[in-house]
Amino acid sequence: MVSKVTAFLVILIHIHAVSSSDPDPVDDFCVPRTNLSSDALSCKNSTLVTVEDFVYAGIKSPGDFKKTGFAATPVSSTVFPGLNTLGMSFVRADFAAGGVNVPHYHPRATEVGFVLEGKIYSGFIDTKNRVFARVLEKGEVMVFPRGLVHFQMNVGDSPATILGSFDSQNPGLVKIPAAIFGSEIKDELLLKAFGFNSKELAKLRKHFQFQGGLSPTPS
Ligand SMILES: *[C@@H]1O[C@H](CO)[C@@H](O)[C@H](O)[C@H]1NC(C)=O
Ligand SMILES: *[C@@H]1O[C@H](CO)[C@@H](O)[C@H](O)[C@H]1NC(C)=O
Repeated sequence: MVSKVTAFLVILIHIHAVSSSDPDPVDDFCVPRTNLSSDALSCKNSTLVTVEDFVYAGIKSPGDFKKTGFAATPVSSTVFPGLNTLGMSFVRADFAAGGVNVPHYHPRATEVGFVLEGKIYSGFIDTKNRVFARVLEKGEVMVFPRGLVHFQMNVGDSPATILGSFDSQNPGLVKIPAAIFGSEIKDELLLKAFGFNSKELAKLRKHFQFQGGLSPTPS
């Protein structure tokens, strides 16, 4: 009996895992009725769909990178519903000179980053902690394999811009510093894990608090 229940649970979990990956489209498109992801499978009547559903103008201009040195403007199905069910999305990332995109990963997507402008030190870390990084020039492209931690820094003396493409309509974003120090993990655990003293930890907590751990928007 117990093993039957276990097998059933395993099957359920498996079905859930399968159905939560980006599906292959079964129609030309499925522009959702609303922007809510819970309603993603309910498509607008296609006779009501227009070209405007497939056009997005939100990354014409750079994000507001002046204050922090970096701004990511995500173009996922959340802001551009026309992407729904199509299995891709993208992001515009703008950097001031010296600006940094902190180490982060996308749990559901591989990313290809294309340097539109500037010189960007760019790389990722594999599961053996080997770093693959170098300075990318304008026009060069780098791929960041799914789920691996990656990072970028503008090493030129003027603003830089990258366009990142993802093979998921909702790649997800985990910024490492915010996930660790901006989250509600117990202090005691972090002190032991990193060998900090309480004062050092408090400083990091304060610095990363504003990022609030897991961010709902990709970059
Ligand atoms: C969906 O979101 C976009 C961008 O935030 C907004 O312009 C649009 O009006 C929204 N559409 C609906 C149906 O709520
Ligand atoms: C879609 O809209 C058309 C035109 O208004 C209508 O004839 C059709 O029945 C609608 N289809 C569905 C599935 O609601």
